[in-house]
Amino acid sequence: MAEKVILKIKKKEYELPVVVGSEKEKGIDISKLRGATGGYTTLDYGFKNTGSTTSGITFLNGEQGILRYRGYPIEQLAGKSSFLEVAYLLIYGELPTKAEFESFKNEITKHTLVHEDIRKFLDAYPERTHPMGQLSSMIGSLAAFYPESLDPNRGEDEVNRTIIRLLAKMPTLVSWIHKRHMGHPVIYPNNSLSYVENFMRMFFGFPTEEYDMDPVIVSAMEKLLILHADHEQNCSTATVRIVGSSHAPLYAAISAGISALWGPLHGGANQAVIEMLNQIHHGEGDVNHWVDKAKSKEDPFRLMGFGHRVYKNFDPRANIIKKACDDILKKLKIDDPLLEIAKQLEEVALKDEYFIKRNLYPNVDFYSGIIYKAISFPTEMFTVLFALGRLPGWIAQWKEMMTDKQPIGRPRQVYTGENERKYTAISKRKSKK
Ligand code: CMC
Repeated sequence: MAEKVILKIKKKEYELPVVVGSEKEKGIDISKLRGATGGYTTLDYGFKNTGSTTSGITFLNGEQGILRYRGYPIEQLAGKSSFLEVAYLLIYGELPTKAEFESFKNEITKHTLVHEDIRKFLDAYPERTHPMGQLSSMIGSLAAFYPESLDPNRGEDEVNRTIIRLLAKMPTLVSWIHKRHMGHPVIYPNNSLSYVENFMRMFFGFPTEEYDMDPVIVSAMEKLLILHADHEQNCSTATVRIVGSSHAPLYAAISAGISALWGPLHGGANQAVIEMLNQIHHGEGDVNHWVDKAKSKEDPFRLMGFGHRVYKNFDPRANIIKKACDDILKKLKIDDPLLEIAKQLEEVALKDEYFIKRNLYPNVDFYSGIIYKAISFPTEMFTVLFALGRLPGWIAQWKEMMTDKQPIGRPRQVYTGENERKYTAISKRKSKK
């Protein structure tokens, strides 16, 4: 018999259905609560325990540190797959056959160029613009260049073309943003290379010389992008879904997701971690000083790269990244003092009562910055790399929401402001101070 939950308000009982997921997760369906109870809604700041959707894309178990895309464990995908294959899996639901993969890859290579007028936008940004702001506006601007994408209900072929364009143009745009920051000429795509190789060449190459592709770096990048590819209903993904639910163009929804990712409590943490480690390295206090700062309730500082809304045991992505970080520094023969500081910080924090009590562990961003730094990515580009990795996840979640014909996202509130009062003319108003 289907499980039901009884809610008692005053003396009256209401039966609420329970939705059970494929991993036995349970959600109490409160969608009819307001009507049935004559006005009661639920209140959950930050949606800490609110399921906004059912989804068949990513499974997370925070207590056991499990992460699976479409049923495949992240450890297997990160160890054996390529980023493009994982993108296909997330968006279309299954791992591609060889023929499906070839066709997907060919479609992407046909769209890697970006309109020259978009390139001109780059020249207009002030020198110190943060690249996340640039990326968000440039992705949003793509809608202007492909007006047929404005209606996201235009049919499967049209939607698919937008998806392919996004995947194809994102590495070009990310690299071009970096090149303009450096004041260097942009590099155009080379479609004979793989997705990640092409990106590395456009980012680090020069028009006047051959780019020396390092397979160790390419493989580390594939892994990092896979680890970031989806993470169910986080801040940026929920943003993509909610913007998309108004039937705004997909480009606009992804642009909004990029903006949401920017903040240091979300994707921006990878940049903040390196800035924090650099401060420690340059003598602005030792490891204990920063741990104490993070613990102080008077100090707004938090240990960046620590804690997670869902993972309360360990972040499986952090475990994979920590190992990859050791490997890549060894292979590239880099002795980075920041890695040593990061390890000390982790050791001190993991033994500290404050962090133990609150289940605060290193998250994906704690070690990813050290790898990005070893590869020579500038710090302000770290969050942009997160966005590059997360793109297929955002697309898959948007596609699922549209295919399921979900209603517009529109939360309720409990109003706590003034009750009705009378307007007074400005000449008669008294200061409240
Ligand atoms: N340093 C110090 N204290 C912390 C930290 C931290 N990094 N994270 C959480 N806490 C404390 C927090 O002060 C609170 O303490 P108390 O119960 O005494 O009030 C308790 O732990 C619970 O924290 P919360 O803010 O209620 O937890 P949340 O689920 O709302 O926030 C988080 C999750 C990731 C925003 C938070 O842990 C944080 O700010 N971490 C640092 C930023 C960071 O690394 N973000 C990247 C997240 S992983 C990448 C991604 O997917 O976005």
